Amino acid sequence: MEKLENNFNQKSKIEKLDIKTQIAKEKDWEDYKKLKILEMTEEGKEMHDFSQKKLDILNNMTEEEWKKELSRKDMFVVLARNDSDPVGISCATEDERGFWVFGDLHVEKEFRNKGVGRKMFLERLNEVKNRGGKKIILAVKINNEAAIHLAESFGFEKISKMEQLKFIKYPKSLITEQIMELGILK
Ligand SMILES: CC(C)(COP(=O)(O)OP(=O)(O)OC[C@H]1O[C@@H](n2cnc3c(N)ncnc32)[C@H](O)[C@@H]1OP(=O)(O)O)[C@@H](O)C(=O)NCCC(=O)NCCS
Repeated sequence: MEKLENNFNQKSKIEKLDIKTQIAKEKDWEDYKKLKILEMTEEGKEMHDFSQKKLDILNNMTEEEWKKELSRKDMFVVLARNDSDPVGISCATEDERGFWVFGDLHVEKEFRNKGVGRKMFLERLNEVKNRGGKKIILAVKINNEAAIHLAESFGFEKISKMEQLKFIKYPKSLITEQIMELGILK
C-alpha cells in the first residue's frame, strides 16, 4: 500500500512537471552535448574517473561528431525534458559480448527526487528489450544509494567482487565501485 502511494505521488509530481522521455535523435545533439558536459563537470568529478582530458575532448567535438554519436547502432541516449528543456540524460552501449552497459545517468539537481531518473531508467530498459538485449551491466559508486536503489528496484543484482574482476579495468576501483547486472530480459 505504501509502495502504491509512493508510486502515485511520484506520478503526480511528474504529471505536474510534464516530464517526457525520448530516445535522442541526431537533431537533439545540442541537448545531448549540454547534459553530457554538465554531467561530466558536476557529479562526473565524483562519480566516474574524471579527467580534464575527457572534458576537453567533449568540449572540442564538432556538431557532426555529436550527431554521429547519436546515430551509432551500438549505443543510444535517453533524454528527459521538462516542457522543451532538457533535464536528464542516460546512455546505454552494447559491448563486444552483446551485453548492454548502462552509463551516464544524470538528472539536473533541481529536478531530482521527482521520478525523472526512474522514468529514464525504464525507457532505457525497454529500449534494450526492444533491441533483443540479453543482459545489462552497470557500475555504481558503492555509496550512491539513490542509483543502487533505482537499479535494485528494476531487478538488478550486485555481483561478487570475484566476478567483478572480469569487468573492471583497474583493480583499485573494486573498493569504490559496485557492478550490478540484470540477466535475460523477457
Ligand atoms: C541517481 C539519479 C539519476 C536519480 O535520479 P532522480 O530523478 O533523482 O531519481 P528518482 O526521483 O526517479 O528516484 C528514484 C528512486 O531513488 C530513490 N532515492 C532518491 N534519492 C535517494 C537516496 N539518497 N537514497 C536512497 N534512495 C533514494 C527515490 O526514492 C526513488 O525510489 P522509489 O521510486 O522507490 O521511491 C540522480 O540522483 C542523479 O543525477 N545523481 C547524480 C548522478 C548519479 O549519481 N548518477 C548515477 C550514476 S550510476
